[in-house]
Amino acid sequence: MNTRDDLAISEVNSSLNLRPLWLPFTPNRQFKSDPRLIARAKDMHYETVDGRPLLDAISGLWCVNAGHGRTSIVKAIQEQAAKLDYITAFNMAHPAQFQAAELIADLAPDGLDTVFFVNSGSEAIDTALKIALGYHRARGEHRHRLVGRERGYHGVGFGGISVGGMTPNRKVFSPALLPGVDHLPHTHNLSENSFSRGQPTWGAHLADDLERIVALHDASNIAAVIVEPVAGSTGVLVPPKGYLQRLRELCDKYGILLIFDEVITGFGRTGKPFASQTFDVIPDMITFAKGVTNGSVPMGGVIVREDIYHAFLDGPTEQIEFFHGYTYSGHPLASAAAIATMDVYREEGLFERVSELAPYFEKAVHSLKDCPHVIDIRNMGFMCGIELEPVSNHPGKRAYETFKRCYEKGVLVRSAGDTIALTPPFIISEKQIDEIINCVGEALQGN
Ligand SMILES: Cc1ncc(COP(=O)(O)O)c(C=O)c1O
Repeated sequence: MNTRDDLAISEVNSSLNLRPLWLPFTPNRQFKSDPRLIARAKDMHYETVDGRPLLDAISGLWCVNAGHGRTSIVKAIQEQAAKLDYITAFNMAHPAQFQAAELIADLAPDGLDTVFFVNSGSEAIDTALKIALGYHRARGEHRHRLVGRERGYHGVGFGGISVGGMTPNRKVFSPALLPGVDHLPHTHNLSENSFSRGQPTWGAHLADDLERIVALHDASNIAAVIVEPVAGSTGVLVPPKGYLQRLRELCDKYGILLIFDEVITGFGRTGKPFASQTFDVIPDMITFAKGVTNGSVPMGGVIVREDIYHAFLDGPTEQIEFFHGYTYSGHPLASAAAIATMDVYREEGLFERVSELAPYFEKAVHSLKDCPHVIDIRNMGFMCGIELEPVSNHPGKRAYETFKRCYEKGVLVRSAGDTIALTPPFIISEKQIDEIINCVGEALQGN
């Protein structure tokens, strides 16, 4: 088998055996009949195996926030691999994981200062849910119920799909979902909020639904509420003004932990280190992944309040406090990548850059308002969702066709249901924003 990337694409495709690989979240037969193969990436661009540049309008998958192939991150990973490839995370450790934890905790909102490392967003969610249950139990309470939100995406673990609210991700697995889970209503409402710039004004009252859930089960049974501050995978739903504040107040009122899933909003996407700081609402736990290593090595984690960590430390000192963890928790390569990534974010002021460029990005994306079949555009920081009128009986088709046309024109966007998501790396220039908007605009004309 020849996998050289300097061949013409037809040669590569015919020389690769596509059969043995099962691709995630992909229509495999369709993809394999016309594969899109990437050879390399640098800064804002991918390059396909046949040498075509592809402007990355989605930061890989909301993760390559500082752009691709960052030299200092690559070097840190290489050096770490040469020095220490692996050490078990159980009863042993290495210095870089402590340094990474400190840098991440320094960026987190006040009071959240303890980091538990995992390898992905999905693992971060399962970990946070377990911490919530363990915390209440350690304090002598028996709160076991969890509250998620319709249209929420919290990865693909059984915990994540149980509190998540995306129907296709749940329906096949429904008999195996966690018991004791309720869902708040989602906040998407086209008749009230379409074409909002930043936070919509309507919808804070939707948080009050937590009162209904409390009335149904009694607060003494409810452990945690988990939401994405900005729902991403469901098509970029920005929280209505006052909504997250209201959730915080209600969680405080009833002793319920509030978890923000910041797997995509963490590390600058909304212009501050975490969306919690952008919206000025501090949760009890934050889950993160993706941007923590700039997408270079898998890593995720949970940042918790000090007293949550301390609640676990009550037993004898030789006793394991939390029966949970992964072979690769705090992996040396991921830790080195995280440290180098935090340095890049800080040295280049990339979160501030998002804040500075966000108004330009907002104006640019809203210029697509009159394109065919566009029924909503919403944005926050460097996140935007362009919602298209669905083709009847073919949900998602219009956005998927738009994604394919953009790919042919040299821009990588993401289709999520009937929404096109644009979430570029923070190093993007105004000119490149224009390039993306022109490409999406032309692709939409084909609808
Ligand atoms: C908000 C949120 N949570 C969790 C996840 C799951 O992360 P992973 O794919 O790393 O498991 C994602 C992935 O996109 C996400 O957007």
